[in-house]
Amino acid sequence: MTVRPDDFAYVQAILLQEAGVELPEGKEYLVNARLLPVAKERDLESIDELIAQCRLGDREARIRVVSEMLTKETSFFRDPALWRALETQVFPDLMERTAVPRIWSAATATGQEAYSLALLATSRFAARPISVLGTDLATGALAVAQAAQYSQLEVNRGLPARYLVQYFDRNGLAWVVKPQIRDLVRFQRLNLVSESPGASFDLILLRNVLIYFGAETRERVLQRVARHLNPGGYLILGSAESTLTSIPSLESSTVGRVVAYRRQDGADS
Ligand SMILES: C[S@@+](CC[C@H](N)C(=O)[O-])C[C@H]1O[C@@H](n2cnc3c(N)ncnc32)[C@H](O)[C@@H]1O
Repeated sequence: MTVRPDDFAYVQAILLQEAGVELPEGKEYLVNARLLPVAKERDLESIDELIAQCRLGDREARIRVVSEMLTKETSFFRDPALWRALETQVFPDLMERTAVPRIWSAATATGQEAYSLALLATSRFAARPISVLGTDLATGALAVAQAAQYSQLEVNRGLPARYLVQYFDRNGLAWVVKPQIRDLVRFQRLNLVSESPGASFDLILLRNVLIYFGAETRERVLQRVARHLNPGGYLILGSAESTLTSIPSLESSTVGRVVAYRRQDGADS
């Protein structure tokens, strides 16, 4: 089944409008793959009918279409160089500076990044408390994050076996994060293009989301996010994203093999 050109144009338009995300021409197959299950779930015959509901002002359908169209690829401890830098340099520094480091996993998708942060603090830093906020726009992804339940395939991707044994419980074929780790993490729906969290942070991970924005949106999001970084704090982007940009209010430095943007101690936002 192919997507009608006007439906494709409509999906492109609402993704840009609601999420700031650009869906390039030629990605009709993605619309098919991601929206056909939603249409079926709603007992509709086709994507065309689903889009018609959106056009007629069905807000819930529109939110669902946008959520489903976002790419939510993630895994535990994604990008080993980052986690080495966090363990050897960033966390020790933060633990020295502040009793309970506050961390924002922005665009956290299904939560693996947020839980990886809590696992690192608990296992490698003598269970020092940290506070992790995970945010995302995609409602389905946030529901998975909140449920804290992952398949065997998902835990096989990046999670060291010792963490699985110590910090997860079995639930049938799935694995559930233990309360000891879950209690350090909370999740909230937040649109990076138009909303800000009501707090500031010592470490912000904003990884693998800027690539979906156009240049102007990218700059706007970065400026807003940078305002939520505490003096002495670290903002870290995805490995392919650091070369895309500079952030005027922050200084860039290398931590291990990773680029970190830092607000100098005593600097204003
Ligand atoms: C590829 S995932 C990255 C997940 C994780 N940060 C990582 O690196 O593994 C991109 C995430 O960005 C989210 N996203 C896209 N546009 C967004 C927006 N405007 N506001 C908040 N989240 C957004 C998507 O829902 C998706 O979960």
